[in-house]
Amino acid sequence: MYVCICKGITENKLREAIHQGADRMRDLKSTLGVTEQCGRCACHAKQVLDEALSEKSQLLHNMQSHSACACDAYL
Ligand code: FES
Repeated sequence: MYVCICKGITENKLREAIHQGADRMRDLKSTLGVTEQCGRCACHAKQVLDEALSEKSQLLHNMQSHSACACDAYL
């Protein structure tokens, strides 16, 4: 699904950029150009950013929990 029609940026493209380290709207703007023209995509882009960051945080939390279990096995 397209988030930014002006730049042809899809939700998947946004998520890819977020998973590669873009964690602010200004990062998405500088790397992909989202919101650079009409700006109508700002709310949807921010929603995708917030969801992806939340998913990323949950994934890291799960990895850390799993990692702690693995460390216990070696003690
Ligand atoms: S829809 Fe993104 S700048 Fe116009």
